[in-house]
Amino acid sequence: MHHSSLPHLERHHRDFEAFRDTMIETAVGRFGPIWWGVWDQLVRPVAAPTLVDLGTGPGMLLPQLRARHPDARIVGVEVQPAMLGHARPLAAGCGAEIVEADVGAGPVPLPDGVADVVTAVHVLHELEHPPSLVAEMRRLLAPGGVAVLYDWVKRPLAEYLDGAPLTPDTLQHFREHCLFTPEDLEFLLRREGFAIRETIGRRGGRYAIVVAERGA
Ligand SMILES: C[S@@+](CC[C@H](N)C(=O)[O-])C[C@H]1O[C@@H](n2cnc3c(N)ncnc32)[C@H](O)[C@@H]1O
Repeated sequence: MHHSSLPHLERHHRDFEAFRDTMIETAVGRFGPIWWGVWDQLVRPVAAPTLVDLGTGPGMLLPQLRARHPDARIVGVEVQPAMLGHARPLAAGCGAEIVEADVGAGPVPLPDGVADVVTAVHVLHELEHPPSLVAEMRRLLAPGGVAVLYDWVKRPLAEYLDGAPLTPDTLQHFREHCLFTPEDLEFLLRREGFAIRETIGRRGGRYAIVVAERGA
């Protein structure tokens, strides 16, 4: 299937299979005790919720959501073929759905207001126009539903490089990874009508998790 965001993603991921493997190996760090503490204290979905994970990648979050929410409808949305190849069997094994769609190319094929929680983990910075992801989170959420936006945030170049050489490629990744401050993430959510519940810094300021509630 042709998706207009794939050439942009290929530049960012460099190698689709290798990046998929990195996302599999590092998932334990993203979806560990801090993530689930935030989930339990700040997200608190209703009974039998619909949970949508935008940019689900290899789908590592999906079985963990199922373990906590046996009656949920769980949907992962993804566009990159190597990620889809891993996410599809994982989703099938835990009763989750995979929707192949390009979040950067307009509404994904799910109805307005379908979701109680929409997560987007390390996805925002990968879009050519990141604010469109936040608009899509709002469209998918029911009033009172919760967005969990977890992404890289701005920090000094020297810290970002941490000794790595300053090449055109690392500089381009710096532009994408370090575009927004945590306050900018909050601003992007507020301008879509969200109320911020809390913002949590991660890994010494590399990342932030913003939990926000969609207004009516
Ligand atoms: C850094 S990975 C994170 C994957 C997963 N959320 C996780 O934390 O394990 C970002 C994912 O977002 C997906 N993505 C980026 N842009 C997308 C788009 N326009 N439409 C759908 N998925 C997208 C990428 O293909 C990739 O799988």
